Amino acid sequence: MTARHFLDLGDAGAEAVRAMLADAHTRKSARQGWPKGKSDADAPLAGHVLAMIFEKNSTRTRVSFDMAMRQLGGSALIMDAGSTQLGRGESLADTARVLSRMVDAIMIRTDDHAKIEELAHHATVPVINGLTDQSHPCQIMADLLTIEEQGMSLRGLELAWLGDGNNVLHSILEAAGLLGFNVRVGTPQGYEPDNRFVAQARAAGATVTLTRDAAEAANGADIVVTDTWVSMGQDHAHNKLAAMAPYQVNAALMAGAKPDARFLHCLPAHVGEEVDAEVFESDRSVVFDEAENRIHAQKSVLLWCLGEL
Ligand code: CP
Ligand code: NVA
Repeated sequence: MTARHFLDLGDAGAEAVRAMLADAHTRKSARQGWPKGKSDADAPLAGHVLAMIFEKNSTRTRVSFDMAMRQLGGSALIMDAGSTQLGRGESLADTARVLSRMVDAIMIRTDDHAKIEELAHHATVPVINGLTDQSHPCQIMADLLTIEEQGMSLRGLELAWLGDGNNVLHSILEAAGLLGFNVRVGTPQGYEPDNRFVAQARAAGATVTLTRDAAEAANGADIVVTDTWVSMGQDHAHNKLAAMAPYQVNAALMAGAKPDARFLHCLPAHVGEEVDAEVFESDRSVVFDEAENRIHAQKSVLLWCLGEL
């Protein structure tokens, strides 16, 4: 049997994504109040090891995958690419074949999406996307879990994205197509999402609105989302920051959203840039639930990849 990779949400499909979310809610509620490193009662991944390769910085992805494996009864090891032979030019193909003999699953954070596809092509154990320049599907699993926890149904939801049309937005668009919610994207000209993700979401039945008007994007939204204006590996270009300024999520913008609208941000945040302190610290902001949910959502991703779900 070929390994179940999770390079993007479409690798799992709508039914498996819904099953993962249901499992994550159940597991999260079953361990309320427990020490964070204690394993779930069934320890479904006992004896399993996840290798994590980082070619970019990380706090949440690194800690949440490690804690997810502990809570599932397994363990994780971290490979900072710069201190491995991969960092000295050993091929992804050989790295994949070696790690497949030594560990049960591989998570990688890298730049070019083609690299993760190459790794997955040669791996005989599951490969999980911990962020590429193109997408961040594990983040969106946590976002979907967080939205459902707020009592909102995903089908028919109106989600507004403000700012840069980046990797996180691409995975949101993929989720919109799979789960049937609508996305209003407010970006400056030249910073729109890749049209492939827009076209795919629309073809799957989602309504995707692209606008230059931040208020038009936010008006009537159930969920308002933003992210850093400068992603890892990008230039901190002054003209980009100037173009982004009208898309800051602030109280005036949130006033147009639904009265019970919630604010999401994958973090790390640059308060004062893409979001102001008033919104970031408000009751409408669920960003720290969202961060914690990286653990709960990824446990279910790991279980799906390893055939336990
Ligand atoms: N949101 C997220 O992926 O955070 P890290 O970069 O800290 O992993
Ligand atoms: N878009 C951001 C997300 C960080 C978690 C980046 O790629 O840097």
